[in-house]
Amino acid sequence: MSLLEYTQTALSVLPEPAQALLRNPTAQKTIAGVGAFILARAANQFLSRCAHQNWTINAAWNPQAELILLTGGTSGIGKQVMEDLSKTGVRVVILDINEPNFTLPSNVSFYKANITNSEDIAAVAKTIRENHGDPTVLVNNAGVGHDGSILEEPESKIRQTFEVNTISHFLMVKEFLPAMVKANHGHVITVASMASFVALGEMVDYCCSKVSALAFHEGLRQELKHWYNAPNVRTRYVPQTFAHKAPANRYSVVHPLWVRTPMITMLTDQGSFKQPVMTPQVVADAICKQILTQSSGQILLPKSQSIASVVRAMPFWLQEAVRTHASGDLRKMRVAQSAAEAAIKK
Ligand SMILES: NC(=O)c1ccc[n+]([C@@H]2O[C@H](COP(=O)([O-])OP(=O)(O)OC[C@H]3O[C@@H](n4cnc5c(N)ncnc54)[C@H](O)[C@@H]3O)[C@@H](O)[C@H]2O)c1
Repeated sequence: MSLLEYTQTALSVLPEPAQALLRNPTAQKTIAGVGAFILARAANQFLSRCAHQNWTINAAWNPQAELILLTGGTSGIGKQVMEDLSKTGVRVVILDINEPNFTLPSNVSFYKANITNSEDIAAVAKTIRENHGDPTVLVNNAGVGHDGSILEEPESKIRQTFEVNTISHFLMVKEFLPAMVKANHGHVITVASMASFVALGEMVDYCCSKVSALAFHEGLRQELKHWYNAPNVRTRYVPQTFAHKAPANRYSVVHPLWVRTPMITMLTDQGSFKQPVMTPQVVADAICKQILTQSSGQILLPKSQSIASVVRAMPFWLQEAVRTHASGDLRKMRVAQSAAEAAIKK
């Protein structure tokens, strides 16, 4: 039976109104248009995924061969990631300036370090290598966020924001990436923020540091491809003789919107804070998925707000409307906070 005959037969079993609709030339064009759009979208997603993976296929995940190094693992998102990964049996090392106030799972080790200080990092790296070997996954998660307008915020806090949220990524990668490149196996994950795309008042230093974290992530990927002469990166086993050509192979950047962690308690404790707030679990799920599936990618959370990544490509009036809406919410919340504090003092 030809395709035309088959289509005619299939149509004839449909109710009369449906047959009339499907024979209508305008309806046919609309269906063809929608079909083409769905196909193009699927093709776009497929090609993006392949490009993120540098057109390579993953070897199976082997938890015994992996060592995950996670910064900021004693609180918030990092703590959740640590807990979830530890349940999969993989070894996890957390670096944090603060000691954990909870019992660590047996496959998790904690080392105290200030990740803004390269001497501290070098010292702890030596201990990690002696005790566990070279990390194969680096999650640059630790971060700080301070409130205050540009004029109010002290210089020391502004500098700390950049040191922790951006400079530490350079220092950590300088220390731990070479071993991944040498082994042709690794994954660097950058925890950025939706603030990488939309700058808000009262958190300008934070937004700048997260734009930088995104640029760091994008540039790192380019350096690995072009500067280290490794355009064809892959996770499959590469014979040792070729290993020097191959860089660490997976890079992910995660951009959460608000997450209920100690970092934003000042905001979320206010009844007047109206923006959507996720649990750390939502972000940890996304980070763990990237690690366990060895997938590169750019993840915006929640998905419903993914449009944020194209804000800078919008017409200026629309960009400004987005920033004004988000900053206005913060401003209103601060006014309410000040009023509540004043009422308590009375
Ligand atoms: N909470 C949010 O709304 C939100 C939204 C988007 C992105 N993020 C990002 O997620 C990441 C995790 O933040 P969180 O919300 O879990 O915050 P958090 O405050 O709960 O945890 C941050 C951790 O980083 C550690 N840290 C800070 N400075 C350090 C330093 N110099 N050396 C070592 N460790 C240091 C802290 O001790 C803490 O354990 C950060 O990069 C943050 O910018 C958070």
